[in-house]
Amino acid sequence: MHDFYSDTQTRPTRAMREAALDVPLGDERHDADPCTTALCERVADMLGMEAALFLPSGTMCNEIAIAVHCRPGDEVICGRESHIIFAESGGPAALAGVMMHPLDAPRGMMTVAQVEDAIRPRSAHAPRSRLMVAEQTVNLAGGAVWPAEALRTVAETARKAGLATHLDGARLLNAQVATGVAARDYAQGFDSAWIAFTKGLGCPVGAVLAGSRGFIEEAWLLKRRWGGAMRQTGVLTAMCLYALDHHVERLADDHALAQSIGARLAELPGVAAVLPVDTNIVIADLAEDGPDARALAQRLRSDGVTATVVGRRRLRFVTHLDVGPEDADALIAAMAKQG
Ligand SMILES: Cc1ncc(COP(=O)(O)O)c(C=O)c1O
Repeated sequence: MHDFYSDTQTRPTRAMREAALDVPLGDERHDADPCTTALCERVADMLGMEAALFLPSGTMCNEIAIAVHCRPGDEVICGRESHIIFAESGGPAALAGVMMHPLDAPRGMMTVAQVEDAIRPRSAHAPRSRLMVAEQTVNLAGGAVWPAEALRTVAETARKAGLATHLDGARLLNAQVATGVAARDYAQGFDSAWIAFTKGLGCPVGAVLAGSRGFIEEAWLLKRRWGGAMRQTGVLTAMCLYALDHHVERLADDHALAQSIGARLAELPGVAAVLPVDTNIVIADLAEDGPDARALAQRLRSDGVTATVVGRRRLRFVTHLDVGPEDADALIAAMAKQG
C-alpha cells in the first residue's frame, strides 16, 4: 500500500527497535525507569516546562489535561475542528464533564477578538469559561502552522481572563522544523503542552505531557486512576529518545514531499482546490462534477493508495517516514485516473 492515511501508520525502524534492546529497565510508577525519566526531563526542557509525564497516547494527554484544568460544568474554548471535538470519543464530556465552546476560526486559528468574545462574564447562569485549547499544527486545516506571535497573544488573552491554556502539540515538532521556531517558543503562554511520538517521529506508542510540577502531580493521579500507569516503559521510551535524536530533522523531507504532492494535485481537473501546505498534511477539495470523497477514497484504495475522508468532498493525505517519492507518484497516478 501507498499509505497516506496518516503519519500514525509508521512502523518502528530496525534501528529504533535496536535502541530499545539493551536499556536498563525499572518501574515507571516508582520513578525507576531511567529512559522514561530521561525522556520526561528532555521533553519538559524542550517545552520550557517544569515537569512532564509519559502517556500511552496523545488523546490521553488531552483528556488528562482537560480534566486537571477544569471542573464539571466548565467550558473549553477551542477551534470547531479540533481533535478534542472530532476524534476523542466525546472524552471531554465523558471524563471531565465539560462543555465545549467551539469557534469557527480561520485555518483553525482563533483570533484574539474571537477568544475575547467567547469568554463569558462570570454569572450564576452561565458555564464558567475555564480553558482555551489550541492545536499546533492544526490537523484539519492541513497541518497549518500558527505563527508564534498569534499563538502567544491568543494564549495571553485567555490567561488574562483567568483561563488555563493547553497546547495540543501532536505535530508541534513539524511546526518547529518548518519554521525554525523552537517548540518551547510555541509553548510559551501555555499551562500545559504535549508532543506525540507516534506521528512524524515514527514510534509505535507514546506521548509526553508537560506543565508545572503541580499540574504534573495532578496528571499522575489521573494517569493511575484511568489505568494509564505502566511498568517497564523503557522499552517504549528508549525508542522515543531515539526518535528525538534521529527523526526530528528529517520531518523536513515529509514537508517537501507534501509540498510537491499539493502542487501536483492542484493541477488535476478532479481537484477544485488544495489548502496551503505548511507541513506534512495535504488537504484537497474535490471538484463538484466528480465522485465524492468517500467514493474516491474507495477507488484509490483499489489502486493501493490510502487517504482519509475529512469532508463530503475533502480528502486528506499525510506524508511520513514510510512514504517516499514513488508512493507520491502512485498517489498522483491514481488520482489522475479519476479525472
Ligand atoms: C491534533 C491531534 N491531537 C491529538 C491526537 C491524538 O493522538 P493519539 O492518536 O496518540 O491519541 C491526534 C492524532 O492524530 C491529532 O492529530
